[in-house]
Amino acid sequence: MIPVNTPLLNGNEEKYLLECLRSGWISSEGPFIKEFEEKFSEYIGRKFGVAVSSGSGALDIAVRALKIGSGDEVIMPSFTIISPAQSVISAGSIPVLVDSDPLTFNIDVTQIEAKITPKTKAILAVHIYGLPVDLDPILKLCKKYKLYLIEDAAEVHGQTYKGKPCGSFGDISIFSFYPNKHITTGEGGMAMTDNPELAERCRKLRNLAFEPEARRFVHYELGWNYRMTNLQAAIGLAQLEKIQEHIIKKRAIGAAYQKELKDLPGFQLPLAKTAYAENIYWVFALVADTQELCENTVAKLKTAGVDTRPFFWCMHEQPVFKDLGLFVNEKYPVAEKLARNGFYIPAGLGLSLEDLKRVADIIKNL
Ligand SMILES: Cc1ncc(COP(=O)(O)O)c(C=O)c1O
Repeated sequence: MIPVNTPLLNGNEEKYLLECLRSGWISSEGPFIKEFEEKFSEYIGRKFGVAVSSGSGALDIAVRALKIGSGDEVIMPSFTIISPAQSVISAGSIPVLVDSDPLTFNIDVTQIEAKITPKTKAILAVHIYGLPVDLDPILKLCKKYKLYLIEDAAEVHGQTYKGKPCGSFGDISIFSFYPNKHITTGEGGMAMTDNPELAERCRKLRNLAFEPEARRFVHYELGWNYRMTNLQAAIGLAQLEKIQEHIIKKRAIGAAYQKELKDLPGFQLPLAKTAYAENIYWVFALVADTQELCENTVAKLKTAGVDTRPFFWCMHEQPVFKDLGLFVNEKYPVAEKLARNGFYIPAGLGLSLEDLKRVADIIKNL
């Protein structure tokens, strides 16, 4: 089976991990944490980075650090992973959903303003599958209505919007370092900001809300243990040294598939670029003209030894949120079509060009 993803761990990962083991620094107290936070912040162009145990954890922290709570509304796309909606709901707030752009898969920015109410506290912009959200209209709305921007850059390490790094726009931005990302720490994430007080709140919330100044073990609010270990940061640092190489490889994979599959009937290929960015191909995503074609293709690829993943499932169609009485009778036709007709094919950093060609040939011959 050709897997959807294989990470590339051929740099200093082993060397830095051995340093952790030999020095005994294996918890979150180790020196690689600070170094990884500082170097990744410098790369993204942010003043502060707070390393945590996952991208989902970073979202929990972002929402709570901004004091988004009971009754507040947060605008976000319906077509995304569950993590953003889960963080907002866990904080007692309400996700307000918006449909997607059919070509970039990102939130349809023209539909956001109509969803703003006096309860709206933030817009949560999620960059999906490798192309950034059109951020300028969102930044304008945030300014006009005094809203926070939370930027979910979990999938776009090294991507830029109009030349400026994704992850550098949000009041708080977050990344994930799961192994299918452009750089990985195994499991991991980071919350990033330029505001020293917000950074301090993020640090506090990741560490059980211990009070830096108060007596140890006396708490004034609830947090989580979302700490990253020194072992994870060691891997992250080695990965960061190779990020440019990884981005070049991902773009080469994307370009090769574009060339191989360009006249494939019945499928929409990802956009190679928009007016404001070149695709970084977190995944190579195909949208079939019909749900039936999507399902048949995925089944045939499985038989031929090619692994695939379906697209995200919309938030307004999630059974767990229906049970909570959320999003009743809401419809987002573009997001629904993407969820039903979309899937992605092997495009991980470890994919060889021979395997890529094999996958493309199998698809073309179906
Ligand atoms: C857009 C987006 N946000 C958040 C996450 C959550 O990250 P993690 O898996 O590290 O919790 C993911 C995971 O892939 C994601 O794609």
